[in-house]
Amino acid sequence: MSTQHLRNLSPGADLRTPRPLLSPAAELGRSVRGTPLDRVEPRASRGARAELTGWTSYDPRFASDVLSGLSQPRKSIPPTWLYDQRGSQLFEAITELPEYYATRSEISLLRSCAGAIAARIGPDATVIEIGSGSSRKTPLLLGAVQRPYAYVPVDISGAFLMHSAALLRGRFPDLRIMPVVADFMRPVQLPHALRFAPASGRRLVFFPGSTIGNLEPDEAAACLARLGALCGPNGMIVLGVDENRDEETLLPAYNDAAGVTAAFDLNLLERINRELGGTFDVGAFRHEARYDRERHRIEMHLVSVREQSAEVLGRSFAFAQGETIHTENSYKFDRAAIDSIAKQAKLQRVADWREDRGRFAVHLLAPCA
Ligand code: TRP
Repeated sequence: MSTQHLRNLSPGADLRTPRPLLSPAAELGRSVRGTPLDRVEPRASRGARAELTGWTSYDPRFASDVLSGLSQPRKSIPPTWLYDQRGSQLFEAITELPEYYATRSEISLLRSCAGAIAARIGPDATVIEIGSGSSRKTPLLLGAVQRPYAYVPVDISGAFLMHSAALLRGRFPDLRIMPVVADFMRPVQLPHALRFAPASGRRLVFFPGSTIGNLEPDEAAACLARLGALCGPNGMIVLGVDENRDEETLLPAYNDAAGVTAAFDLNLLERINRELGGTFDVGAFRHEARYDRERHRIEMHLVSVREQSAEVLGRSFAFAQGETIHTENSYKFDRAAIDSIAKQAKLQRVADWREDRGRFAVHLLAPCA
């Protein structure tokens, strides 16, 4: 990573020293069985100099989102904060669960439509991936594009991003990989080195995983408008969207039998305890997924199993028994919903593809002329 990219580190980035990186599965196994890796004791100080290493810091945006979210009559915390390094690893494990069909559907769909997308974008393209996580789907697109110029993965978890970028480098040794640690809910600053990209190469913004569904419809439109600005007038956006509205398959996808989704959701409270001096009794909350049929959205909640209170940064918050913290929505936008969001963002559909049973869709969008 160049110093330029280091300067791009948003305050939303993981501020702690990255832990040794193991595969997500290995990490999970270790932290479930043993001491959580976050509780590593600082080394004993050997004199005055060593004491300088004993500093603490927290992300002020995380703090203000948590404090204001817990002060509302209906408590909620934005889903962005679910994705620290541990959250990103747990999320990776979710994508491999038998109940979570979306990742498998999207991968099989991308296998069949990547060639058509690559033909439309042309040679020397720069692929920018939003919320890149493990970059597991990236090779499907990158492998189809003719002479890709660069790959710019954008993710909020810095350590996870670097790990994924390093793995990808092994598969595409000649590709320029320019990771950007940023929160895509805000304008993303692209690396300056992209100025040297050939003028003929277009930009392909890849926003997979139905992440768009984790935003409110108006936020989704604003987000797509920013992505339209990012790809520029000649560029295109590849958008992966879960269209499934069948409760029978949706509920288990967001509340699996092995409890991985529950661990992912509850990690938010652990993160508050770790980073914001929280006193949550994590065992006194449980994960719940609900489906809102009118709004076509899954809701994730952390339910307080008893009356209790918890402190965050010295402020106390009371919970009634059964009261929840709403942690995430996952809207199931159908074609008409995406049309209306795209229109607000001044984008038009170039093409769309659906996976066999019509559960998952990939839309190719371009800025309106
Ligand atoms: N964006 C995806 C979705 O809404 C993935 C996702 C986000 C997810 N949070 C999740 C999947 C929690 C399962 C559980 O489906």
